Amino acid sequence: MSKPQKKYLVTGGAGYVGGVVAQHLLEAGHAVTVLDDLSTGFREGVPAGAEFIEGRIQDAAKWLDASYDGVLHFAACSQVGESVADPEKYWVNNVGGSLALLAAMRDAGVRTLVFSSTAATYGEPATTPITESDATAPTNPYGATKLAVDHMITGEAAAHGLAAVSLRYFNVAGAYGSCGERHDPESHLIPLVLQVALGRRESISVYGDDYPTPDGTCVRDYIHVADLAEAHLLALDAATAGEHLICNLGNGNGFSVREVIETVREVTGHPVPETAAPRRAGDPAVLVASAATARDRLGWTPSRADLTGIVTDAWTFARREEPTAP
Ligand SMILES: NC(=O)c1ccc[n+]([C@@H]2O[C@H](COP(=O)([O-])OP(=O)(O)OC[C@H]3O[C@@H](n4cnc5c(N)ncnc54)[C@H](O)[C@@H]3O)[C@@H](O)[C@H]2O)c1
Repeated sequence: MSKPQKKYLVTGGAGYVGGVVAQHLLEAGHAVTVLDDLSTGFREGVPAGAEFIEGRIQDAAKWLDASYDGVLHFAACSQVGESVADPEKYWVNNVGGSLALLAAMRDAGVRTLVFSSTAATYGEPATTPITESDATAPTNPYGATKLAVDHMITGEAAAHGLAAVSLRYFNVAGAYGSCGERHDPESHLIPLVLQVALGRRESISVYGDDYPTPDGTCVRDYIHVADLAEAHLLALDAATAGEHLICNLGNGNGFSVREVIETVREVTGHPVPETAAPRRAGDPAVLVASAATARDRLGWTPSRADLTGIVTDAWTFARREEPTAP
């Protein structure tokens, strides 16, 4: 027997991750409303079949009512560098916006939430892989605001019975059909290297090659956006009234900056020149997730952990944007 259809509000569903998750919810037979102010998202990023409201999470009470079964909350400012230069923008939008959203949910009686948290809540890890019980000491305002929202949700679950899951993503990458990554400015490694392959940048900067890693460059945990989306659907099923479950989402496997560049060379056939640059402050050598909690509590197993596959999907998406694909 097929599961009954549910109705979800997806904040930030015109963005990269929210758009892919909205598409997965629709494919699973659910009704989806996207709430997005298009500050960094795109109207065409909202999947066909979803209702679209152009608006801010700060005003969520205008639209949220008891007809919704839950909220998936992606809407946020998420550029680390910008958060250092303009921290108040991050506190106002990420924390103030989430506070308003939680109040709207409480008033409407919508009692299930899945929240996009981040590896940036941990800061510099003392050990690797990172588990959810490790210390949280964010090194930038972006991570601090996401951690503040996690704390807010913990209190809401304990006091008011919210069923909540925070998913702490590591490096999201790849694409799903017509939904892919296009941040402006782009700060994520894979799309940046692909911009070199597309001839939109001359070279890729490698920030530090003397880290204590096998090839001296930083190691990060890349997770395919479709694997990530599947975890959100599992999180909706696992959410339990009065509990705030926090799960890391990563592959548990790191790839170095050099391995990513080399994979882009192989996938695209482009030489991709590199430029050596100094280390960036606050860049840990290795950031790799333990996803044991997501496996145990959500029953989640990532099936697209292969870097070549991740880069190939991102490349297919990046070329769609080109007027004349090379
Ligand atoms: N992409 C990653 O690697 C990554 C890693 C960890 C966590 N995250 C988190 O995942 C979420 C989605 O990230 P993304 O990469 O898709 O970013 P994105 O910028 O593509 O999407 C965010 C969306 O939220 C919307 N938005 C922002 N503020 C809003 C507001 N006040 N009201 C309504 N809409 C608003 C934007 O217009 C955009 O469409 C974010 O919360 C981010 O912090 C992303």
